[in-house]
Amino acid sequence: MMIYILGRQPAIGLAELESLYGSDSLRPIGNFAVVVRNDDHVDFAHIGGALKAAKILTTVNSTHLTDVKQGLEKVIVKHIQTLPDGKLKLGISTYGLNLTSQRITALGLSLKKIIKANNRSVRLVPNNENHLNSAQVLHNKLISELGCELLLIGDGVNTIIAQTTDVQDIDAYTLRDRGRPKRDARVGMLPPKLAQTIINLATTGAKSNGKRLLDPFCGTGVVLQEAALMGYQVYGTDIDERMISYSKDNLDWLAETHKVSVNTHLHVGDATETTWQQPIDIVACEGYLGRPFTSVPDNEILQKTINDCETILNIFLQNLAKQTKPGTRMCLAVPSWFVNDKKYHLRTLDHLSHLGYNRISFVHSNDKDLIYHREGQIVGRELLVLTRK
Ligand SMILES: C[S@@+](CC[C@H](N)C(=O)[O-])C[C@H]1O[C@@H](n2cnc3c(N)ncnc32)[C@H](O)[C@@H]1O
Repeated sequence: MMIYILGRQPAIGLAELESLYGSDSLRPIGNFAVVVRNDDHVDFAHIGGALKAAKILTTVNSTHLTDVKQGLEKVIVKHIQTLPDGKLKLGISTYGLNLTSQRITALGLSLKKIIKANNRSVRLVPNNENHLNSAQVLHNKLISELGCELLLIGDGVNTIIAQTTDVQDIDAYTLRDRGRPKRDARVGMLPPKLAQTIINLATTGAKSNGKRLLDPFCGTGVVLQEAALMGYQVYGTDIDERMISYSKDNLDWLAETHKVSVNTHLHVGDATETTWQQPIDIVACEGYLGRPFTSVPDNEILQKTINDCETILNIFLQNLAKQTKPGTRMCLAVPSWFVNDKKYHLRTLDHLSHLGYNRISFVHSNDKDLIYHREGQIVGRELLVLTRK
């Protein structure tokens, strides 16, 4: 049994984990964590929507500080027996508990005393906030052999005490984003984390089994890169020849730098009319998002952009329906716009059934929360999970 700490948009992370593990295996805690009762192996490095994974050590039937402290002390005494010689590194993060960072540091100092009384030396990572971020966990080596980050997770009644086993590798994500040879600000910058989420939403279960994944709007190849690392055969098409050569260069770079063999097929193709090569096992893409807007557009330009995106999505979905088998699952990131407190969606989303698709709903997340969006951004990415009827 594991517990995951969810990212900035918890509903998206929950839907991703629901795709990977199934809804019955998940017990969400508030909007920040989820217990997963499923032992299927999923490589944490390929999950975009979770910040940390931890193994559950014990549950204290209280959220009061004195009870939690007692529980922690028992855990730490047991834990130090299992460690090799050397200086221990300790950190504490809390979620869903009403504790100030000073209180958490005080808890850490009391554990430090106990560890020292057991003749072990220890360095405590101080808390500026109630939880340590990924960089603090990584750079203080808290998931190394001699490291230990303890998570205290309150669900309102109980407190779960867990030990972090994995944390988002921000340096690896940055390398795959900024370190690759070809980037293009005009086609947008899909974060690799979001590409992973899109791929995981497009599948059920954790295994790629060498399936073939199609990205019909592949651009510079972020989805293809992440899919190749997950073990998919990758197939990318794009209307722009330059993008195909960018994807090729980026996938060659990935194969060389990450020592993976990448099974790639790329060609120019207009997604509204191209004939794709079979088989198409899953489809995962960030579609055409229209003009990028850095400031509020006037209504005429906005409406024209929405219409353009609408037309492309509509005809693309008709073309894809003719070329995919019933049951084929897909995740498409499509644009939605946030202008002056109003949200604009593509109307095509209301006619998916006519186009030959079922929209998948999630037990633990609402469709309306599956829009990747940052405060102040005009164009968000709505994550549409579909199966071909
Ligand atoms: C938002 S970008 C996708 C960026 C991509 N996720 C990446 O990793 O760079 C949309 C892409 O769709 C392509 N595109 C636009 N209209 C298209 C069409 N009708 N058929 C295929 N590709 C199209 C653009 O050339 C652009 O590369």
